[in-house]
Amino acid sequence: MTPPSAEPTGDLQRFDRVERALHWVNAGLFGVVMLTAIPLYIGSLAGIFGRRHLLVEIHVWAGVALPVPLLLALAGPWGHNLRDDLSRFNRWTKDDFDWLFSSARRLQARVGKFNAGQKLNAAFIGGAIVVMLVTGSVMKWFSPFPNSWRTGATFVHDLLATAIFVVVVGHIAFALTHVDSLRSSITGRVSRSWARRHAPAWLEEMERAEVLSSQRGVSTPLGSLAGSQSRSATADLKANRSVIPPT
Ligand code: HEM
Repeated sequence: MTPPSAEPTGDLQRFDRVERALHWVNAGLFGVVMLTAIPLYIGSLAGIFGRRHLLVEIHVWAGVALPVPLLLALAGPWGHNLRDDLSRFNRWTKDDFDWLFSSARRLQARVGKFNAGQKLNAAFIGGAIVVMLVTGSVMKWFSPFPNSWRTGATFVHDLLATAIFVVVVGHIAFALTHVDSLRSSITGRVSRSWARRHAPAWLEEMERAEVLSSQRGVSTPLGSLAGSQSRSATADLKANRSVIPPT
């Protein structure tokens, strides 16, 4: 067991298996929907592939499937870390605004588990799934709707598709140039030095929870925060029930 006074060591668990699986299944579905969208938009490309009807079916059903992995991941006890992260996305601190709007203050911002860019990206992707599902459904099953709805839905679908391409390409470029972040989406883990540089407030939260857990006699390093002990320690911290004097 790590004594409470010892300097914590070891990697931190950033994402559990459910979150990583969700990320990659979602990425795969987005890949299919976006790749099939290109020839649907650029008619001459669809001609090269032939079988446009098949492309539409793949596009539509991969699109309809987009929210399913998220809902499944959220539905049961296995989704506790995901639910926790979603609530982090919804919490905006002054440091997030400093990070977003001031290049001078960004260096001092005490960012939590996710920076403002990651929070905006998550909100955009979540919202985009809903809007694409609604507009795509009107385009596919158009008979109950007036023509103006179909036209409007196509316009919004195309416009948002352009924004999705920009955001997703940016997301991939970011991942490829930030190897530690990419690694954490595969292994789930990050080093403490990474957390110190990119998510200092989260590191502090984890280390306080770690000490709290070790005081309770839990031998698992709280770095692997997927465990229920660490969750209850974190919950105590959030509820200001910490037994650790503030540092
Ligand atoms: C990431 C999500 C999505 C992206 C980026 C995307 C993108 C696109 C693009 C660029 C087009 C071509 C539009 C045009 O020809 O002007 C298209 C067509 C279409 N999309 Fe999507 N879409 C997405 C999700 C969906 C979903 C969820 C559905 C169904 C529920 C859907 C249904 C359709 C339909 C029915 C068409 C028309 C196909 C045709 O020309 O017959 N899409 N989509």
